[in-house]
Amino acid sequence: MPGEQDAIEACERSLRRLRTDYLDLYLLHWRGNIPLEETVRAMERRQQQGKIRYSDDMVELWDEAGGAQCATNQVLYHLGSRGIEYDLLPASQQRNLPIMAYCPLAQAGRLRESLFSNPQLTQLAQQKGISVAQLLLAWVIRQPGVIAIPKASSVAHVQENAAALEVVLTEHELTLINQRYPAPQHKLPLDVV
Ligand SMILES: NC(=O)c1ccc[n+]([C@@H]2O[C@H](COP(=O)([O-])OP(=O)(O)OC[C@H]3O[C@@H](n4cnc5c(N)ncnc54)[C@H](OP(=O)(O)O)[C@@H]3O)[C@@H](O)[C@H]2O)c1
Repeated sequence: MPGEQDAIEACERSLRRLRTDYLDLYLLHWRGNIPLEETVRAMERRQQQGKIRYSDDMVELWDEAGGAQCATNQVLYHLGSRGIEYDLLPASQQRNLPIMAYCPLAQAGRLRESLFSNPQLTQLAQQKGISVAQLLLAWVIRQPGVIAIPKASSVAHVQENAAALEVVLTEHELTLINQRYPAPQHKLPLDVV
């Protein structure tokens, strides 16, 4: 099948560019117009050949043969964008499929500024002796099965973000946060940047 062959060749090109023999995790960014079945077959072949260890796509993947081998689903998730909590997150937790939250610090722009300058978040962070960034990251990873991948370009930010792993938010703090940034009450389209 042409899609299957294309996916295999794309993986081969990535291996060459990365100068490696195999990939620990091969993420499918978007499924595009290739039938998912073909992509899954290509991923499986690559896995059998030892070229990749894990692969990924979305909910429909679970119904495909080999779909259960999916290792994670990378989606946009931060305090200002909680849509996945309505359906995708619980479904993933039920299947023990980790969610990898991209843009956990809301990346850039107005939404990020509004989070970082929100007086309630700033006060809460101050009371806990942490930064707003750490509060946002601790909030993203507060639940089982959620990984956050903040991007940071300074050692100070990397260290600060790593320390957020130790931050525990109390039920009371989570309630306060929910009042300002409520959980979704209905299905929402997947948010993207
Ligand atoms: N799958 C997808 O479609 C998709 C889309 C977008 C992004 N991603 C991935 O998601 C990851 C993160 O995304 P992102 O960079 O867009 O958003 P992000 O991690 O939410 O935000 C990054 C921004 O936060 C700043 N930052 C990091 N640590 C900080 C701290 N402790 N205090 C204050 N600011 C801090 C960074 O500044 P400095 O650089 O100055 O540290 C940078 O400006 C990346 O690996 C990216 O490849 C995936």
